[in-house]
Amino acid sequence: MARKKIALIGGGQIGQILALLAAQRELGDVVIFDIPQLEGPVKGKALDLWESSPAQGFDADLQGTSDYKDIAGADVVIVTAGLPRKPGMSRDDLLATNVNIIKNVAENVKEYAPKAFSIIVTNPLDAMVSTFHKVSGFPKNQVAGMAGVLDTARWRAFLAMELGVSIEDIAGTVLGGHGPTMVPLPRLTTVGGVPLMELLDAESIERISKRTREAGTEIVKLLGNGSAFFSPAASAIEMAEAYLKDKKRVLPCAALCEGEYGIDGLFIGVPCKLGAGGIEKIYQIKLEADEQALLDKTVEAVKKTLSEVKL
Ligand code: APR
Repeated sequence: MARKKIALIGGGQIGQILALLAAQRELGDVVIFDIPQLEGPVKGKALDLWESSPAQGFDADLQGTSDYKDIAGADVVIVTAGLPRKPGMSRDDLLATNVNIIKNVAENVKEYAPKAFSIIVTNPLDAMVSTFHKVSGFPKNQVAGMAGVLDTARWRAFLAMELGVSIEDIAGTVLGGHGPTMVPLPRLTTVGGVPLMELLDAESIERISKRTREAGTEIVKLLGNGSAFFSPAASAIEMAEAYLKDKKRVLPCAALCEGEYGIDGLFIGVPCKLGAGGIEKIYQIKLEADEQALLDKTVEAVKKTLSEVKL
């Protein structure tokens, strides 16, 4: 069986970790694309990583490029092209710059890798995935935003820290936009089958929900000159793997809702089935009134950001 091909558009902080994880998991051959000014650095990263393969024991061809022709035939495209946040910036502050970058990326992916399952990571996430979808014209099942996997990972990590239990046993989900209005769902979170709400009081749960909603900003403040990269990369790779191996994972992704949750024509974080058909299904949870109110709020926030996108 021929190897799969994974094209990474953007070879910065997240892009380089994506390349490492894709190679380590032998998901396929990897092409790292970046702008012509960074052709040398991405070629260097690809070669350096390839030279780590004897020690790590993986087989994968790795290539750096600034020529879109090299992404031809990619099975998966993961887009991190664009500016990251600096301290004091919100994700929405990136909108004007990143929308132009994503437009250009979408046109080229459409031309050179029209069959690729496309995972968008660039922020502000919900607006960028929507832009990519509109400009590429790809079917909705072929385009997903990476946000919910990361937001849920943060929620789970904070709960595991609080409870002193294995991360493996924490199951839950975070819905909505990738920003301060996202909606962790404590009622539906379990710890090895035990409802979270039987383990923590309301105050502790709210404290951890808040930390989850602001987790990206916490990292931006600590790093001082960029935003999170290990956890976003790991989350996007989880999605890519689900697609490439037809795993039928159920993961929260920014997907195009057309009626689900009463949302029409908007990309936002909802639980999805991810397999060889891309986004194969969106699951609808019966929400309680307070949860629905929070979802309505996050929908409004995403709509507001999107209204500022001029295509
Ligand atoms: N085409 C391809 N790559 C581009 C383009 C473009 N038009 N414009 C910029 N890039 C590249 C940059 O040259 C840089 O190498 O995108 C890369 C982004 O890398 P970093 O600046 O290190 O940012 P990173 O931390 O990887 O985050 C990327 O993901 O999570 C989001 O908010 C984050 O929007 C940011 C994105």
